[in-house]
Amino acid sequence: MKPTFQLPRRGFLAVLATAIALATGCKPSGESGGGAAGTGTIKIGEFASLTGTEAAFGQSSHKGTQLAIEEINQSGGLLGRKLEHLTEDNRSTAGESATIVKKFISREKVVAVLGEVASGRSLEAGPICQAAGIPMVSPSSTNPKVTEIGDHVFRVCFIDPFQGKLLADFAKRTLKARKVAILSDVSAPYSVGLADFFRQRFIAEGGEVVVEQKYASKDKDFRAQLTAIKAAAPDAIFVPGYYTEAGLIVAQARQLGLAVPLFGGDGWEAPELIQIAGEALQGTYYSTHYSPEAKSTEVRSFVKAFQARFNGETPDAMAALGYDSAMVLADAIKRAGSTDGSKVRDALAATKDFPCVTGKTTLDASRNATKAAVIITVKDGKFSYLETVEP
Ligand code: PHE
Repeated sequence: MKPTFQLPRRGFLAVLATAIALATGCKPSGESGGGAAGTGTIKIGEFASLTGTEAAFGQSSHKGTQLAIEEINQSGGLLGRKLEHLTEDNRSTAGESATIVKKFISREKVVAVLGEVASGRSLEAGPICQAAGIPMVSPSSTNPKVTEIGDHVFRVCFIDPFQGKLLADFAKRTLKARKVAILSDVSAPYSVGLADFFRQRFIAEGGEVVVEQKYASKDKDFRAQLTAIKAAAPDAIFVPGYYTEAGLIVAQARQLGLAVPLFGGDGWEAPELIQIAGEALQGTYYSTHYSPEAKSTEVRSFVKAFQARFNGETPDAMAALGYDSAMVLADAIKRAGSTDGSKVRDALAATKDFPCVTGKTTLDASRNATKAAVIITVKDGKFSYLETVEP
């Protein structure tokens, strides 16, 4: 088990101050919120799944975000002001993200919002930011609909039409699969979307989807679906879901004697995957946004700083993208010379060739980034880099 998440002291104090302010209906003293002419701290609101089924996503992404904000403050802050990082836990639960973001905007007067990892939760919060004219930057939600919400919603990662296509090509070329089974999570827009993009490409390239089965988040028993999959005798099984269920699916597939490769997308990324599925992960693969083994200067200095800050922990893709999301936002605030929502929005939209940990970032007209993906496999109980796929 991973140690339980501990809010770092400064974050804890900020949350405590916020809790007191909310309870008493007062703003913490000495802060002027996000007004363009503000003189207090510049408030950034981060909503994340710090507990619950996708806790690994929120914890990792939060650490990356926190490291970025600390580094910015250590080098003097922005526009002569310090950043104030507010973080709230949505407990991986539907409905919570909307509540948190409303509070960030109306009570805390945040300048911008950072979040979320899971597309479903970014889809929940995005319309609130859009309506309020507050920019939102998702670190790692890959479903295309997220930035389609409107011109205030951005992301610093690639999107699922690319990820679905690269996985279809990987299945065909590397796994040499002609017949594939799909087992997707109907409760996650991410999973439904990624299954669609994969299917389109795989079929267009001459492959066949021999069976499709479904589940919902929090399900624990996948044997009925896996039995149906076994009967269709696929060459490989595509599981576009999140690690908690994907881990159980891999373990149960092996128990049922399914020896073919299983593979997924970035939703598999979490150390918990190995804790859940263990040895059963031999012969599985997933695509994601970055590998800590990469040799670029940005990756090397990020990994070093992250390990120094968090007890030697190696940052995963969510941590890298959390860091990138905060750095891209900070760069936009600096270029805007203002914390005004529409000026920061315009500056974000003009982001070009910004040196992120996950690669040079340019935000296109649809407020998305175009970046390479990596494919990871699991060997002897460890994640291992396999290949990079350029866009
Ligand atoms: N891309 C996933 C989603 O949109 C979330 C995710 C990103 C998970 C990065 C792991 C790593 O829901």
